[in-house]
Amino acid sequence: MSPSVVHVTGARPNFPKAAPVISALAAGGIRQKIVHTGQHYDDRMSAVFFEQLSLPKPDINLGVGSGTHAHQTASIMMHLEDLLVAERPDLVVVYGDVNSTVAASLTAAKLCIPLAHVEAGLRSFDNTMPEEVNRLVTDRLSDLLLATSPDAVAHLGREGTPAHRIHLVGNPMIDTLLRHLDATAPSRVSEHVRLPERFAVATLHRPGNIDDAVELDKIVRAITEVAEMLPLVLPVHPRSRVHLERTGLLDHPHVHPLEPLGYLEFISLVRGSELVITDSGGVQEETTVLGIPCLTLRPNTERPVTITHGTNRLTKTAQLAEDVRVQLSKGRPSTWPVPPLWDGRAGERIGSVIGAFLGHTG
Ligand code: UD1
Ligand code: UDP
Repeated sequence: MSPSVVHVTGARPNFPKAAPVISALAAGGIRQKIVHTGQHYDDRMSAVFFEQLSLPKPDINLGVGSGTHAHQTASIMMHLEDLLVAERPDLVVVYGDVNSTVAASLTAAKLCIPLAHVEAGLRSFDNTMPEEVNRLVTDRLSDLLLATSPDAVAHLGREGTPAHRIHLVGNPMIDTLLRHLDATAPSRVSEHVRLPERFAVATLHRPGNIDDAVELDKIVRAITEVAEMLPLVLPVHPRSRVHLERTGLLDHPHVHPLEPLGYLEFISLVRGSELVITDSGGVQEETTVLGIPCLTLRPNTERPVTITHGTNRLTKTAQLAEDVRVQLSKGRPSTWPVPPLWDGRAGERIGSVIGAFLGHTG
């Protein structure tokens, strides 16, 4: 019988990373089960990705929902443990840096089930980010570390991860992006949403930006200044809505708030924009490949390759409006570099690494 793999997904950014891996393993004849932890549960944060990315429906949804970090992580672990004991897969595959990732890693490791981490080795060196804690623990426990960029490989090496476990495979999120270019022309979203002729896009959901009322008020003032230069389209993450409503930003005449968009509509929106302001990890990567200028409103990034090889720049609240002004005067680049191996074939490479690890010849 062919070996069996359990993929654990749960939050919006997991889905575009998992899709190419699942498709590559299916092509290689490996048996697979998809677990959805239920960390994200709104249709717009979850179901729409399964429909649009042709992901097989999850075999099991653990239905854990929202909660504090400890509550959510523990709840995933308790439900997943029963499932993994029953299934006893040959490998568990986890994605990115969300609570579902670390919860699945801990559960698999305690059951001595081998673990593969897709997007291993990214480091912001900022342990106040919950994602950094999740990355450190997951990488420490993983048997296969599948890295998107050379800096990630270097971090893992410095931390003492044996070289034979680390594989530079490229970026599966970019496989998904390139695979859907035809379906994400800028016109797609304007069929659904009335948009200004020229606009910027913003997405904000990091606790460091959203949860502190004083910091958020400063960000809102800076974003209002931007909106007065160029209309701003703002697909609002569910964790941010209440906070942003309080500030009045969503009522500003030049701000166009939207519900979270489906993947195809969101990429279409980004492709039609002059620039993007974000604190998202995935959006830094997607704008890099699309050649859309990106200003990342964070003190650091675990994705420096999007700055050295892409269109991304870090910015600060006090500097945001000026950075937007400068960027608008430069316009969108006509050519831009793309990080090595962000070529649409990461899923295949991951499939080969996993196949070899499992001794599966296909
Ligand atoms: C999570 C990840 C973050 C990732 C983000 C992607 C962790 C620690 N954080 O943050 O790394 O960048 O997903 O989007 O795993 N909510 C809804 N509907 C949903 C899901 C969430 O309304 O479908 C609301 C709930 O009020 C919830 C809040 O959003 O309490 C936060 O959700 P949670 O999954 O804890 O973290 P995110 O902020 O979404
Ligand atoms: N995204 C989307 N709709 C939106 C905003 C983002 O489909 O309204 C996609 C985006 O293209 C990327 C992923 O969601 O593929 C990024 O997820 P998010 O920003 O929530 O998480 P992060 O990458 O910061 O962990």
